[in-house]
Amino acid sequence: MNYLSRRCKSILPYTAGEQPQDKRYVKLNTNECPYPPSPEVEKTIKEFDAGRLRLYPDPENKKLVAAIADRHGLSPENVFVGNGSDEVLCMCFPAFFDENDEIAYADVTYSFYKVWAHMFDVKSRKIPLDDEFKLLHTDYLDLQGVKGIIICNPNAPTGTPIGRLDLLKIVESNPDKLVIVDEAYGEFASCSVANRVCDYPNLLVVKTFSKAYALAGARCGYALGNKALIDGLKLVKNSMNSYTVNALTEAIVVAALEDKKYYAGVIDKINAEREETADALREMDFEVLPSSSNFIFAKHKRLSGSEIYFQLKENGVLVRHFKSDRISDFVRITIGTHEEMKVLLSEVKKIVRHK
Ligand SMILES: Cc1ncc(COP(=O)(O)O)c(C=O)c1O
Repeated sequence: MNYLSRRCKSILPYTAGEQPQDKRYVKLNTNECPYPPSPEVEKTIKEFDAGRLRLYPDPENKKLVAAIADRHGLSPENVFVGNGSDEVLCMCFPAFFDENDEIAYADVTYSFYKVWAHMFDVKSRKIPLDDEFKLLHTDYLDLQGVKGIIICNPNAPTGTPIGRLDLLKIVESNPDKLVIVDEAYGEFASCSVANRVCDYPNLLVVKTFSKAYALAGARCGYALGNKALIDGLKLVKNSMNSYTVNALTEAIVVAALEDKKYYAGVIDKINAEREETADALREMDFEVLPSSSNFIFAKHKRLSGSEIYFQLKENGVLVRHFKSDRISDFVRITIGTHEEMKVLLSEVKKIVRHK
């Protein structure tokens, strides 16, 4: 007897980047932050009263919601929090789409969208990025036949952004469709539309503390939108799990939000390192897509993506390679510390030397 549901029998789950335990790698494969979280986070953990863990956390995470609302100049009713932005994005499907509804997203984008669509029997319409892997806003204007649109901005795994004004044209021209903007990497760019959610009832922005805030292990993400959208997400959450954000994570994230200066420094360092690394790779015959994220997407003129991935891995450097259409020649490289980037570049140099 196979007890799996029809849905689970046919689903192809998302493949998360490796978290290897066998040896120490220069780990540049899952877009984590190479720097530690703010010292305020460490202080909060040390001072956290373990006795509090006896109790359930606040199911509404009011302190956290207030701190996020404050950061974005919004009201708490415009904020929904969850256990990582993956959870928040996943909850959007049952909240806003019915079986056989169709949603549109780019052909090359975060590959979890298609898994959630499958999970909730929502149809996917893939809209190709152009030949330079740019999203053309004109392809999304007044889209017919879909119930929603998901745009990752800056996009993953390409790193390329779409400008704020072009994105808002998509939102404006599709007033009857929900536009979800996944800004997982938004802090590294200047294309965020987070502060416009109250102007557009069909705009939902999803963000995370996993990347720029160096808190991937704490698991916290959030959505910003008008009250009706946020209430929709709360309905789903409260029908699944009342306590998605634990008490320690709530305290840690509130502390992180208070240290704006520290994180501004981290973001500047990563962005500067990204540009240096991209230039160095271009000198070694790589095509590097223009990135506004904490990673770059690069393809060598003569070596395949899998060759680079495997050779780097053998030499202790882990990057990400996707076997999917259009992008199998590329590798995605997370920006690490200056030292890590030096190791990466010297290993790449050895690989490409005779090619
Ligand atoms: C585009 C994009 N969205 C969302 C996420 C999920 O992040 P988290 O669940 O850690 O908040 C990721 C993680 O890599 C991502 O790349």
